[in-house]
Amino acid sequence: MSRNAKTLARHIRAVAGDAPPAVGLVLGSGLGHLAEMVRGGVAIDYADLPGFPPAGVSGHNPKLVLGDLEGTRVAVFGGRAHYYERGQSAAMRLPLDVLKALGGQVLILTNAAGAMHPDLYPGDLMLLSDHINVSGLNPLVGEPADARFVPMTEAYDPGLRRALHRAAGAQGITLVEGVYAWYPGPSFETPAEIRAFRTLGADAVGMSTVPEVILARFLGLKVAALSTITNKAAGLSDEAISHAHTKAMAPLGAAKLERILRRFLRDHG
Ligand code: HPA
Repeated sequence: MSRNAKTLARHIRAVAGDAPPAVGLVLGSGLGHLAEMVRGGVAIDYADLPGFPPAGVSGHNPKLVLGDLEGTRVAVFGGRAHYYERGQSAAMRLPLDVLKALGGQVLILTNAAGAMHPDLYPGDLMLLSDHINVSGLNPLVGEPADARFVPMTEAYDPGLRRALHRAAGAQGITLVEGVYAWYPGPSFETPAEIRAFRTLGADAVGMSTVPEVILARFLGLKVAALSTITNKAAGLSDEAISHAHTKAMAPLGAAKLERILRRFLRDHG
């Protein structure tokens, strides 16, 4: 745990109170609405948390919100840093260190993704069962401790996945599981790459989440992650792929995702 993380955690506690956040939530593109649902929440701009990622990507709302959501104490990260912004795969290390320093135990990550699985369409949700790190990058490079050899078997916690399936079922929402491929971006994939990733066993592709999962497992946090499908991946439909399209399509699945997460938090608390 860096000194900086401990200092920031002290500052955050002074502003938002001592209660540890049971669940940390990282909101992906177009999913920021959930942060506004937090009751009695204290919002701190990333800009006031030295070392937190700058507001890099449009469609994100770079604030940390602490408060109560459906009876569970949460820390909502309204924006994330991506590898493609500065070439740092450990760009989310400090926020996750801070979550750990605050006493967080569970991390739920959300993202927007393109679909390769033939049955996944824009507006669908996918619960990650596993991932393929096609980038070959790792946020733990340079980490000196032996703890860097993090096992990634069942990185996506089976108990959390069961709880999220129960939450989705209770809301009458279909939640399929699939494998997410991390592409470093910022350009989108080529159709040949998408065919290759599909052959490797990926169901969806995106530019985030995997480094955070690796870091969170390193920190001993339990992890789950959900994708909202915003498009068919490159070459799989006639629709042009763009960031504007991703932002426009994210709300399609966001409402369902919100209902699942609220129910999950209600049952978790
Ligand atoms: N590729 C990578 N990232 C994405 C996509 C995609 O097709 N859609 C949304 N995020």
